[in-house]
Amino acid sequence: MNLTVFGIGYVGLVQAAVLAEVGHDVVCVDVDAAKVERLNQGFIPIFEPGLEALVRDNHAAGRIVFTTDAALAVRHGEIQMIAVGTPQGEDGSADLKYVLSVADAIGREMAGPKIVVTKSTVPVGTADKVRETMLAALKLRGREELGFDVVSNPEFLKEGSAVADCMKPDRIIIGTDSEAAEAVMRELYAPFNRNHEKMIVMDVRSAEFTKYAANCMLATKISFMNEMANLAELLGADIEEVRKGIGSDPRIGYHFIYPGLGYGGSCFPKDVRALIRTAGDVGFEPVLLHSVEARNNAQKAVLFDKLKAHFNGDLAGKTFALWGLAFKPNTDDMREAPARVLMEALWAAGAKVQAYDPEAMNEAQQIYGQRDDLTLCGTKEAALRGADALLIATEWKNFRAPSFELIREQLATPVIFDGRNLYDPAVVARHGIKYVSIGRKAAGQGRQAKRELAA
Ligand code: UDX
Repeated sequence: MNLTVFGIGYVGLVQAAVLAEVGHDVVCVDVDAAKVERLNQGFIPIFEPGLEALVRDNHAAGRIVFTTDAALAVRHGEIQMIAVGTPQGEDGSADLKYVLSVADAIGREMAGPKIVVTKSTVPVGTADKVRETMLAALKLRGREELGFDVVSNPEFLKEGSAVADCMKPDRIIIGTDSEAAEAVMRELYAPFNRNHEKMIVMDVRSAEFTKYAANCMLATKISFMNEMANLAELLGADIEEVRKGIGSDPRIGYHFIYPGLGYGGSCFPKDVRALIRTAGDVGFEPVLLHSVEARNNAQKAVLFDKLKAHFNGDLAGKTFALWGLAFKPNTDDMREAPARVLMEALWAAGAKVQAYDPEAMNEAQQIYGQRDDLTLCGTKEAALRGADALLIATEWKNFRAPSFELIREQLATPVIFDGRNLYDPAVVARHGIKYVSIGRKAAGQGRQAKRELAA
């Protein structure tokens, strides 16, 4: 099928590459000429496992094309997929200016029937606005007879596993009241819908809302767990034991109950705020969502507070090793990353940071540039040299089994502040390192330590 994708960002590029891979003929269009130019030269603007080869191969095979020419792009696709950004506006709502400018362009350029698909995460009611914008553009041209449908098809991919998520979606949500549009969407996604039915067809507004409800539910699980972790510390319980204890109940499940430094990224923080805003627009007070957000904001400060308490409030002139800058592993994305809140608090307190991240070093360089209180180190070991403590903000795999001897040798005072609960407190203690983590007892107070003492 001929498909046009507007917006070569995270969602647009991954979805386009995956649809090209199964044989569709995809034209990707973006207003950023430099990005288009670089993609045509084989440079992929984001780090995402598997994406580079997928784009390269399909580009070479001619199944995916990158252009800035909107007129050409509109002519190409029977399906016009909108995957442009929806940045957060000043009032917390999702800003639809890019989505609606695409709708306008389609209305201005189309010469035959189109299925317009909203893929970006957009507030309930956006499909209606897309339709109105297109109708207005068609009217200006005196071409109101040209037919089109607007379909909502939200994306659920996760950064770090975006290609795999798109290749094997656990559900494909289609919002439409048109049987013809449904048939076209079934054909588009048929390669992903072979073994069992993954397509869930519903009305447009429900599809739009499904995306927000899903992300807000997941954000709620995380904030709930973080609240329990903070409480566990005060009650002398271990949140990691509690996590396993509750996760074994299939109604709760093991996913998304990991306590830590709060959720970051491009979706959860923005979507929770946007739904709060949407609720306000219809006169509803979303008390739970407000709390989810408040807990998350407070959680991003938890490690800094522990650090400050440990050093008796005096962090000025100290240097800290920081492992992990990305908001989660397997991405270089630092949007709303807890590490940023931590680093910025350290700088405000007069401390210096020696940071290492397996993928996000360029990103950090771009965000913060050259500054005296930030050293970007080439390895995790280099970040340790002479630091007053080690801080961990992201659970990258290669942080999981470090040389504790080296950590003890390199740090000026052997102490680890772990925002991701990567280590067994007893093991760290055995290496003569003080260990502060989230929602757990300090080593020496747990069951394991008592057993060791008795032995
Ligand atoms: C999320 C949704 O999962 C995805 O379906 C949607 O399309 C976009 O938003 P993403 O932002 O890529 O995807 O990351 P995800 O893996 O969901 O993690 C989000 C944040 O929650 C991260 O900061 C992560 O560290 C945090 N998290 C996750 C926790 O703190 N604890 C957990 O148990 C799980």
